[in-house]
Amino acid sequence: MKIQFTETVLRDANQSLIATRMGFDDFAPILPKLNDAGYYSIECWGGATFDSCLRYLNEDPWERLRKIREKCPDAKLQMLLRGQNLLGYRHYPDDVVRMFVRKSVENGIDIIRIFDALNDLRNIQVAVDETVKCGAIASGAICYTKSPIHNLEMYISLAKRMEEMGVGSICIKDMAGIISPKETYELVKALKETTDLPIIVHTHSTTGLALMSLMKAAEAGADVLDTAISSFSGGTSQAPTETLVYALKEQGFEIGLDMKKLKEINDFFKPYRNEVIKNGLLNPVVLTTDTDALNYQVPGGMLSNLVAQLKAQGKLEKLDEVLLETPRVREDLGYPPLVTPMSQMVGVQAAANVITGERYKTVSKEVKAYFHGEYGKAPGEVNKELQKKILGETEPITCRYADLLEPMFEKTKEELGDTAKSDEDVLSYIAFPAQAEKFFKNREKKEAAAKSGTLAYSIERID
Ligand code: CO
Repeated sequence: MKIQFTETVLRDANQSLIATRMGFDDFAPILPKLNDAGYYSIECWGGATFDSCLRYLNEDPWERLRKIREKCPDAKLQMLLRGQNLLGYRHYPDDVVRMFVRKSVENGIDIIRIFDALNDLRNIQVAVDETVKCGAIASGAICYTKSPIHNLEMYISLAKRMEEMGVGSICIKDMAGIISPKETYELVKALKETTDLPIIVHTHSTTGLALMSLMKAAEAGADVLDTAISSFSGGTSQAPTETLVYALKEQGFEIGLDMKKLKEINDFFKPYRNEVIKNGLLNPVVLTTDTDALNYQVPGGMLSNLVAQLKAQGKLEKLDEVLLETPRVREDLGYPPLVTPMSQMVGVQAAANVITGERYKTVSKEVKAYFHGEYGKAPGEVNKELQKKILGETEPITCRYADLLEPMFEKTKEELGDTAKSDEDVLSYIAFPAQAEKFFKNREKKEAAAKSGTLAYSIERID
């Protein structure tokens, strides 16, 4: 029995524990060790890393990727992509999605994990197609959730359709950390019986289930597990790499990881972890176990948002009522997985329904857009009566929302003119216009300063 590992310290662990604030220089020295340790892949880009580079770290995300590639010439570099939403929450036209995928691969990505928050596969199709065309591996990720309509059958059918699309592997993506050991075992087993594609399991340690569930995943025949090096593991992050390797080795699994290198990697990140705890970037609370998600059937992050929202309105005493209303709203919406942005949408609507004393008296523009079909097709049936009430005369769309969008890459490139130095710049601007603009300005200043610096230096030399 062989099993492999994806290391998440540079992306998901970084994102889940310290809001993706790890700068390139913070991890650059350890990249050669990450390259050599024997991982299946290193998740290092996409998700929030792109936004964070531009917004907080004054780094060019594309340059970060190229620099990682340079120091990790052999390892498979992996990124996370939200299908037609790329790295955000709005839908982009196909030309932008294709260009983004192409440039990601050109700059060094080997594996693109692609998902849609509603598991509407029409929203991942173009990204999968382009990834395969570019010669990279498209990993189809199924958002795991629990509801009366989500069952093995549905997940298997999603996996089959992803296989037909040409994905190279199937990932069970449990962002809330709610998948139990028994559910993991049954789901992995069923998927292994359905397809020959490698099966990957991604979960979070939030509720404390992760280590047990990953162990069961291995027993059921999973091919790859997502974990984080131990000093960046636990809580809202992934389960610890070394712990799982230790336990699985004892059970007879063949694991291609170099334990000495893992220790060096952990020794490298430990002082950094201590530093971010000290400077407040890492709140130790997120490293602990939070079982609320198991009691309330809503992800931990969603519950804390609800509490904060009710507190701000002085209505915290309504929490129990809102928690009863939440599954009813979710049912009306056809049981979307409770991940961003659906978790916020459902939570805010449930709170409004309780506080106003009348269900759907006020409806957010997001919920309206959802019922209009702009996010994609709901996993189950939406409440048709409610849909009619909210949309009035407007008919919901049945096509993919991106089909209604005009191509925009070339147009944006023209508009940007000299401001954009490359196609990558254009993509940064399309994804995060305000942040990219600020970054471009800073870059110009830096370059100008560097030029004058060189001049001053050469004058000095003449003296
Ligand atoms: Co995750």
